[in-house]
Amino acid sequence: MSSTLTKRKPVAKRSPAKQKTATKRAAKKQARSAQNPKSKLYASLTVQLLSLLKGEYDMIANAANFSALLFNSLPNVNWAGFYFLRGDELVLGPFQGNPACVRIPMGKGVCGMAAQQCETIIVPNVHEFPGHIACDVASNSEIVVPLFDGERILGVLDLDSPIIGRFDDQDAEGLNELVTVFVGHEEGLINDHG
Ligand code: SME
Repeated sequence: MSSTLTKRKPVAKRSPAKQKTATKRAAKKQARSAQNPKSKLYASLTVQLLSLLKGEYDMIANAANFSALLFNSLPNVNWAGFYFLRGDELVLGPFQGNPACVRIPMGKGVCGMAAQQCETIIVPNVHEFPGHIACDVASNSEIVVPLFDGERILGVLDLDSPIIGRFDDQDAEGLNELVTVFVGHEEGLINDHG
């Protein structure tokens, strides 16, 4: 199987104050490591995501804006969006790109495997990934990042690209930081009302 699994421990639930500090730390860390264009881009996306989320706690609205931000900011991405866990399957959430398959059983496809294994999965070539679910013929590579509330899996963020080998560890790190900010905000752990 041609894929990379990045082990990521589920994030323990934090107090609002600790979450706020962790979020600021994540933004600062990305800003500090902005030595190359990709780090710089993710640092900028963290700032933009925080701005989009500010004062709004509707998960669907925020996930929609988050997917639009990624789709329009990341180069060579033809699909960006969410699948949320409903019972024992993943159900399509807000996304940008072509219409996609609506339900993915746990353990199936790249999304179902990332959710089941609680790991970020980078697939350099989707045509070499056994069980890959093809939603867009233009997709050649993919990255799937799980979303956690503490140790509970909420769903996944999925990005597709027409370029083989489009996603690397920097994308995995940047996207993990972004979903941590997103989930922390949605759980109401960040009081950004001042
Ligand atoms: N390729 C995914 C299915 C979702 S689409 O790419 C939007 C998978 O194998 O799980």
